[in-house]
Amino acid sequence: MQFSAIQPQHLSELANILGADALLTDLEERTKRSSDHTEDLVFLPEIVVMPREVDQISKLLRYCNQEKIPITVRGAGTGLSGGALPIHQGIVLDMQRFNKILNIDTENFQVTTEPGVITQVLQEAVLAHGLQYPPDPASKGSCFIGGNIAENSGGPRAVKYGVVKDYVLNLEIVLADGTVMWTGANVLKNATGYNLTQLIVGSEGTLAVVTKIVLKLIPATTTNVLLLIPFRKAEEACRAVNSICLAGITPSALEFMERDALDWSMRFCNTTAISIPDDIQAHLLIELDGHNEQQLLAEAAQISELVTIYDIDELLFADTAAQKETLWQLRRKVGEAVKSNSVYKEEDTVVPRAHLPQLLKYIKALGTEYGFQSVCYGHAGDGNLHVNIIKGSLSDEFWHQELQVPIRKLFTFVHALGGTISGEHGIGLVQKNYLDIVFSSAQIDLMKAIKHVFDPNGILNPGKIFPDN
Ligand code: LAC
Ligand code: ZN
Repeated sequence: MQFSAIQPQHLSELANILGADALLTDLEERTKRSSDHTEDLVFLPEIVVMPREVDQISKLLRYCNQEKIPITVRGAGTGLSGGALPIHQGIVLDMQRFNKILNIDTENFQVTTEPGVITQVLQEAVLAHGLQYPPDPASKGSCFIGGNIAENSGGPRAVKYGVVKDYVLNLEIVLADGTVMWTGANVLKNATGYNLTQLIVGSEGTLAVVTKIVLKLIPATTTNVLLLIPFRKAEEACRAVNSICLAGITPSALEFMERDALDWSMRFCNTTAISIPDDIQAHLLIELDGHNEQQLLAEAAQISELVTIYDIDELLFADTAAQKETLWQLRRKVGEAVKSNSVYKEEDTVVPRAHLPQLLKYIKALGTEYGFQSVCYGHAGDGNLHVNIIKGSLSDEFWHQELQVPIRKLFTFVHALGGTISGEHGIGLVQKNYLDIVFSSAQIDLMKAIKHVFDPNGILNPGKIFPDN
C-alpha cells in the first residue's frame, strides 16, 4: 500500500476540517502517542488530531481516504498488542475528547456512551443507578471503553459475566469514506441481517471508527467474598480451577498467579500485605458474588474443602473491603510490575479450561529448552493464561529473532489443544505474523476481503492483524 506523507497543504485542509485546536504537530504531543503498553515499541505519528464531533471524524476520514493518508485510532494507549501504534506514520486520531456518557437508560438497562470514557468511570456511573457493566480489564482505571470495544477485552469477571462482545448492542461508526451509520439496534435480541455490531467489536480500528456505543447492563450484585489459595505446585493450581467449575460453582473471578507474578506485584506496590512461604509456586484468587452472603460463604466453604486434595498452604479469606481491595490491586498491577522489572513479551494464550495444566507445563519446558524466563498469570477460569516472557539479560538478537521459534511452538501447541493465540489483547502488530498458526489462507483471505469492503484504500490502522506475507 502506497501512502502519502503529510504535506503543508494537507495540514491547512485538516485545520479547516477540524479547527486548529484539534491539530497537534509538535514533537511532545506526537511522542505521547508514539507508544502504548506493548513492549518498548515506538512509532512516531506525523500529526495527532483530537476532534470533538462525529461530523469532524466523517470529514477527516473522507479526506484521508481521498489523499491516502493512514489513520490510527487511539484510546487511552493501554493496549498490549500494538493496536494503537501508527506503524505507517500518518495521523493518530486521539478519541479523548469523546468523553461523555450520553444516556443511562434505567428502564431498559442500557447505557449509551462515547468511546473516550474511562471504563471504570462508566462502571461507577451505572453502579450509582444499581446497574453493572461487568467487563473489567486490569487497566480499567485508565483504559477507554472504545479501546475495549476495539480489542474485545475481557478481564477477571469474564468467567461469570462474559467479555465486552457480550454487552455491545449497537455502535455508531464512521466508515473510511466518511459514511456515518449505526450497526444494529438497542435491543437484547437481534436476528436482522448480518451482525455488523459484532464484526466491529474486536476489529482493532481496522474497519471503522466507533463514535457511540450502546451497552447492555445488568442489575448490580450486592455482596462478594474473596479467597486467596496458595499452592505448592503451580500445575495443581491450574487443575484446581477445573475442580471448582466441575463442582458447579461459577466464581465471578478465578485468577491464577504464578509465585513471581504476586511477588513482583507486591514489590511494585511496595507492600508486604501477603507473606509467600518459600515452597509456594502459585496462587488462585477466587471471588464469588451475588446477593446472598450466606450462600456465598457456603460456596467458599465448598471450595476450601475441595482444594484440600491438592498440596496447599493456609487459605486467606479477605474479611474487609480494604483487604479485598489490596488483593485486587496486587492482581491488577501484575502487568505493570513485570514491565517495571524488564521489557517483556505478552502472550495472551487461551485454551479450553481443562487443558491449562498441560499449557503451563509446556511453557515452562519451552523456557528451559530455549533459555527464557516466563511469568504466567491470568484468567484461569476462562483458560486465558498471560505468558510474560522476560527480556532481562537476553541478547537483542535472541529477543527479536530466535525467540520467534519457541513462541511459534507455544502457539502451535495452544492451537492443538483447541485454543487460540489471543484471548483478550488482540493481534495488532505483535502477533500478526503468527496468525497463520490458527487460520488457513482461505480464512485470512476472507477477512482481508471484509477489510477491503470497509476500507478499500487500507487507510484505517494499516499493518495490523494480517501477516506481512
Ligand atoms: C491482565 C491484563 C494484562 O489480566 O490483561 O492483567
Ligand atoms: Zn488479562
